[in-house]
Amino acid sequence: APGAGFANGGLSFDPIAPVPMLVDDFNVPAGYSWKPIIRWGDPLFSGVPALDFGNQTAEAQAGQFGYNCDYIDVIADRSGRTAVLASNHEYVNPGIMFPPSDDAAELDRRAAISKAAHGFSVVELRRSKIGQPWRYLVDGRRNRRITADTVFEATGPAAGSALLKTAEDPEGRWIKGTLGNCAGGTTPWGTVLSGEENFDGYFAWAASTAGQKRYRATPSAKSTYTFERIDPRFNAHDAGFVNEPNRFGWIVEIDPEDPTSTPRKHTAMGRFKHEGANVIIAEDGRAIAYMGDDQANDYLYKFVSKGVFDPRHTPVARRKNLGLLSEGDLYVAKFTGNSPAAEIVGTGALPADGLFDGTGQWIPLTQGGQSVIPGMTTEEVLVFTRLAADKVGATKMDRPEDVEPNPKTRKVYLALTNNSSRTAANVDEANPVTGNRNGHIIEMTETGGQSGTTFGWSILLLCGDPAVDQNTYFAGFPKELVSPISCPDNVAFDSVGNLWISTDGAPSKIGYNDGLFKVPLEGPERGHVQQFLSVPRDGETCGPIIHDQESMVYVAVQHPGENGTVAAQTSYFPDYVPSHRPESGLVAAPRPSVVQVWRG
Ligand code: FEO
Ligand code: CA
Ligand code: CA
Ligand code: CA
Repeated sequence: APGAGFANGGLSFDPIAPVPMLVDDFNVPAGYSWKPIIRWGDPLFSGVPALDFGNQTAEAQAGQFGYNCDYIDVIADRSGRTAVLASNHEYVNPGIMFPPSDDAAELDRRAAISKAAHGFSVVELRRSKIGQPWRYLVDGRRNRRITADTVFEATGPAAGSALLKTAEDPEGRWIKGTLGNCAGGTTPWGTVLSGEENFDGYFAWAASTAGQKRYRATPSAKSTYTFERIDPRFNAHDAGFVNEPNRFGWIVEIDPEDPTSTPRKHTAMGRFKHEGANVIIAEDGRAIAYMGDDQANDYLYKFVSKGVFDPRHTPVARRKNLGLLSEGDLYVAKFTGNSPAAEIVGTGALPADGLFDGTGQWIPLTQGGQSVIPGMTTEEVLVFTRLAADKVGATKMDRPEDVEPNPKTRKVYLALTNNSSRTAANVDEANPVTGNRNGHIIEMTETGGQSGTTFGWSILLLCGDPAVDQNTYFAGFPKELVSPISCPDNVAFDSVGNLWISTDGAPSKIGYNDGLFKVPLEGPERGHVQQFLSVPRDGETCGPIIHDQESMVYVAVQHPGENGTVAAQTSYFPDYVPSHRPESGLVAAPRPSVVQVWRG
């Protein structure tokens, strides 16, 4: 029977075996079943066609579920039988969506489809019974598509700044679209946050200022996603759109309850390659958001709201809470180790005190909403946040991904995915592995309260396959009993406070497909990494959401079959139908999908 083994609460299951990297399967533990809720191209509205691979249009895509779902949440209504699913759509994989072409009109058409495949989907769900799978509802009251053309409102001190003004938006407040949306978080007031991560790939990049160079040093004539073919604002060489890249790289907030609401970009939370943001209410009532900048040798940040959270369920409370992320202060993290530098030797060997650990400081970049950085205005600190953080001695980290407070203990868990550029010359106790291949997880304790400026920390996991990697560490748990894990990306918690980790990039590091893993944090099982599921070939595991009280788990399966081509797909997930359009000469594409897993 599943779950005989583990008495540490949360979902019980017998861990699956790791799945070799060329296998195109979605695997769950014995006793569990899986099924997609919604797939790329599924229509959200009646009158919108189902995906017709080979005959896709931008108009159809703007009414269908987008590509490459990453952050997801399933927010159930009180009955537990209706819910809303919110999902972002980070990027597209044109190489497996479209056959090769050099026809200009066709390439323009594909750029328009790709723009429509980005953004967000909000969709209503229904089911007959709690603990049973959902189906999505076409034309649900809250159904909504947000694309690269939906207008967002900038909030906070940099809204209206000259740095955000373009030929199309002389006010510098109304920004079309959200791009590169990676991880995210659902706020205590019911909205969804998402980080605009690799926004630089969307622009013919001019790198015209020192600020812009800090986000990408090398100019380019063309962008990765070619939107500039059809929309001049993606050409930053154009004098009218020099500032368009400054309008991306923010935390966005979307209200899934109100499909008519204007989504927002919060400038007070700073601009970088935002992985995501996760909010907890501090002991003093302020909203705290933890945020990673996912680039090798970049930083970890924290936002502290000026206002306090109002827990009442009233329209007044809701209005107040919706303003919390528009005003507050931004901090960057400095980690200080407590072992002699000579004991950090780059191999993952523990220092003499037995732990990679120490203390830390949150260094302010703004205070009272104003810049505290000499020589930088508040607007400059918020738009070119990396430059501000460079000046205060923040700690360069091994690619900060998702960072999330544990609602049970208030401790904060930071996923550092990997960093091939970490060298012997710059290892430190918080980033102690040379060429960090497999990534690590840091556990942080706010010693001055959640809104304070001091913390303690220790490394919980040094990831890898303990069968072959010498430098793994699992909080002291016996290595021979854990599931191999590499490249931690997203984190989540179950109802009893176990950590769950999803991975991105494991195949190229340990030779196994990416997956989802449970890690108890307390008691004798602390550090016992156990694999719950595995995603198909070339795919990344995103989401995840753990509703252990009803034995359900949700993940977004992102970029399955990414390394294939239309002529030679490497994945047929999730339908595993190899040719549904034989007359077109095209075989079916894999479809990024939101998957539900339930016991039964
Ligand atoms: Fe889009 Fe940092 O993962
Ligand atoms: Ca130490
Ligand atoms: Ca991610
Ligand atoms: Ca990732």
